[in-house]
Amino acid sequence: MWYGGASVCLYFTDRKKYIIEYLMAERSRTYWYHKQYPIDLMTEFTVCESLASSASPYMAALENPKPYGSLVGEMLAACGMLYQGCCVCEIGGGYGSLMKGLLADYSSLISRIVMIDLSKHLLRRQRTALEPWKEKIDFVHGNVMELMPALSKIDLLIVNEMIGDLDTWKDLTTSELPDDVADLVTRYSLEIPPQGGFHFNVGAVRLVEAISQAGIPAFISEHSSDPVIPEAMDYLARDLCLQGFPREIPLKGHSEFTIRFSHLERVARFWGKDCIGGSLADLVGIRKSPKMRFIFNARACATDEHAIILEFLDHIREYRWLIIR
Ligand SMILES: C[S@@+](CC[C@H](N)C(=O)[O-])C[C@H]1O[C@@H](n2cnc3c(N)ncnc32)[C@H](O)[C@@H]1O
Repeated sequence: MWYGGASVCLYFTDRKKYIIEYLMAERSRTYWYHKQYPIDLMTEFTVCESLASSASPYMAALENPKPYGSLVGEMLAACGMLYQGCCVCEIGGGYGSLMKGLLADYSSLISRIVMIDLSKHLLRRQRTALEPWKEKIDFVHGNVMELMPALSKIDLLIVNEMIGDLDTWKDLTTSELPDDVADLVTRYSLEIPPQGGFHFNVGAVRLVEAISQAGIPAFISEHSSDPVIPEAMDYLARDLCLQGFPREIPLKGHSEFTIRFSHLERVARFWGKDCIGGSLADLVGIRKSPKMRFIFNARACATDEHAIILEFLDHIREYRWLIIR
């Protein structure tokens, strides 16, 4: 994400439309960054990559260690969302690790897979990771915000840690909202702070609106600004704001924003959808043992394993998942 004129020129020289929009708005766009500069998911520390394989050191934090894609698949199958002959579309699949873990256990159920990504480079990585299942996979290069209306015959959308990459309005004040934000806030009765500056996940809200209108069941997970704390792990709430508004997370060359999940739920419910969700720590099955509590509370690590667990707990505690159907 860039705000300076020089950066704009560097990345947008031949794209007047975007230059004009960009210079006029306080809107964070990572579109061109993702399109042209594949992100390094190791530095972004996505939960999916942290738990990409059973050999990952982060597996030490799990009750039943399994790759992330397998754990997500297990939950989706238990909810009846993976079934014989279904067609699954993943948006922003990164290195392909979620789909790899899911297909390792559930490929016999799935008749067709569509992988959509803005980054050609990451689509190539997905092709390599998903080579064993290539006959039933279509790889589509494009922007989900433009492709949503064209999606058909999809039974399940997976949107894992990508919704925080979509456009976000920065530093808004309640009394001076841009028209698109004011419309969304009014139509969906979205709560915003009575005073002070705040960020608004306009892209995430628009994507959930499009998903709900298309009537495609979806699994979404992301870093949240209003986390939920797993039962029997109340210690994870320490120093966390549970009703916060989106926070900027500066990353290499761009920023992501945490997501206000209550906004996504309101939009989906407005369109008559059911929402279920929870903490990602619960979904992946973080061990609920006294050792975990001790490591988190003490914040003093005697071993490498303790340090890894502490780092992982501190990270995953803000993540949520949401099913819309
Ligand atoms: C933070 S990465 C997450 C990757 C993976 N899902 C994970 O959890 O590790 C975001 C992914 O979304 C893709 N992406 C970002 N904006 C997109 C858009 N508007 N349309 C399609 N893909 C997009 C990126 O190229 C990348 O693959």
